[in-house]
Amino acid sequence: MWGGRFADGPSSIMREINASIPFDKKLWQQDIRASLAHVAMLAERKIVEAEDATQIINGLNQIAEEFAANGVTEDLDLEDIHMHVEARLTEIIGPVAGRLHTARSRNDQVATDFKLWVRDAMDLVDAGLAALQNVLLDRAEQHADSILPGFTHLQSAQPVTLGHHLMAYFEMIARDRSRFADARQRMNQSPLGAAALAGTGFDIDREQTATMLGFEAPTRNSLDSVSDRDFALDYLMAATQCSLHLSRLAEEFVIWASQPFGFVTLPDSYSTGSSIMPQKRNPDAAELVRGHSGRIAGAMQALVMTMKGLPLAYSKDMQDDKPPVFEAHDLLGLSIAAMTGMIEDVTFNTDRMRALAESGFATATDFADWLVREMQLPFREAHHVTGAVVALAEENSCGLADLSLDQFQSVDTRITDAVYAVLGVDASVASRSSYGGTAPVQVRAQIDAARQALAQEK
Ligand code: ARG
Repeated sequence: MWGGRFADGPSSIMREINASIPFDKKLWQQDIRASLAHVAMLAERKIVEAEDATQIINGLNQIAEEFAANGVTEDLDLEDIHMHVEARLTEIIGPVAGRLHTARSRNDQVATDFKLWVRDAMDLVDAGLAALQNVLLDRAEQHADSILPGFTHLQSAQPVTLGHHLMAYFEMIARDRSRFADARQRMNQSPLGAAALAGTGFDIDREQTATMLGFEAPTRNSLDSVSDRDFALDYLMAATQCSLHLSRLAEEFVIWASQPFGFVTLPDSYSTGSSIMPQKRNPDAAELVRGHSGRIAGAMQALVMTMKGLPLAYSKDMQDDKPPVFEAHDLLGLSIAAMTGMIEDVTFNTDRMRALAESGFATATDFADWLVREMQLPFREAHHVTGAVVALAEENSCGLADLSLDQFQSVDTRITDAVYAVLGVDASVASRSSYGGTAPVQVRAQIDAARQALAQEK
């Protein structure tokens, strides 16, 4: 394709390092789609004759059928997907195929193809995340009243409702979706027609190709058009943040599924056994989601480092933009699917959760608040009295509610038996009905609002 001024062909090592076809063949649909738009525009502008354009269009459609049926055969000599399509087009329609590359370059071509691919990838991720949100909503609704210990520092802190806990992840996923949506909106401009870097002398219509490819407008600066990979970085950064959320959720499941916790029984379909320890039911899927987030963050780092310090405009380094994005996308898709399936099918052992919430003095704050409200103690003094009561319960190896009134009064004579009403976990969660709080009424309100917001998207 470019051998006109070369006396020798590339060495086999050059062939190998130069070729991107092993990975960019993934772009074949986008490549053909962009070429179809380009040639239609060239014909409209009479840059290419109508009959030639028709031959090119028919040829491209035939190639699309062939690739769909048989995949793309890799030929390292043909470097990349753009050359593969053009070479096959030449085999099918002869030298007229050479007219397709008028007023464009592989530089604007690859930027266009890759943008189209990333845009589709964002749409797929969004659909997956919406499905995950729906599953979180269903399970949160079933468990709006179920109680488990809420932790800070992974120390039992205050009782919370399971619905509230699951809805926290719903919020994270909502932010992820809005990050992908922002990125999609920002990137939706067509680089096609920027040509190699400087634009073209042909009287092309960039608006037309932009519209045909579903872009909002053409990009405004041809140098930027061929050197911009922000869209890929935006994808990877959003993917990284999303994978962090999935990884945290996965970690909860790993902890919850462990025997000392026993909060969940993972479904058989998302666990594996051990070849030596028959009792084992390992949370492999959750662990792999946790692990994949590291690889996704690594892919993001890889492209950051590739792009750092590149001068305008296109540099071949940028060919390395695709493998990290493809890898991250596969890993993220699997992670979303695995977490969705796991949450859908997991058994929450609510008795066990409740028992643990009732131990560990999780209602100590409720007791302190009661001293403030009913006994008018300053909070700091209430905190101190509560500390002494907790120490007494610890000495007696019992819970706060198991202490007798005499025992309470041995710490502070002002305590009355009305205290017992605030020591239970149900009263505790029900009392936290501030906006966004853990009380079942609040959680149900959050779930209703979330369902309405999701329904509006359709
Ligand atoms: N395969 C190349 C890439 O992925 C296409 C652009 C090549 N352009 C060039 N002038 N060598 O970046």
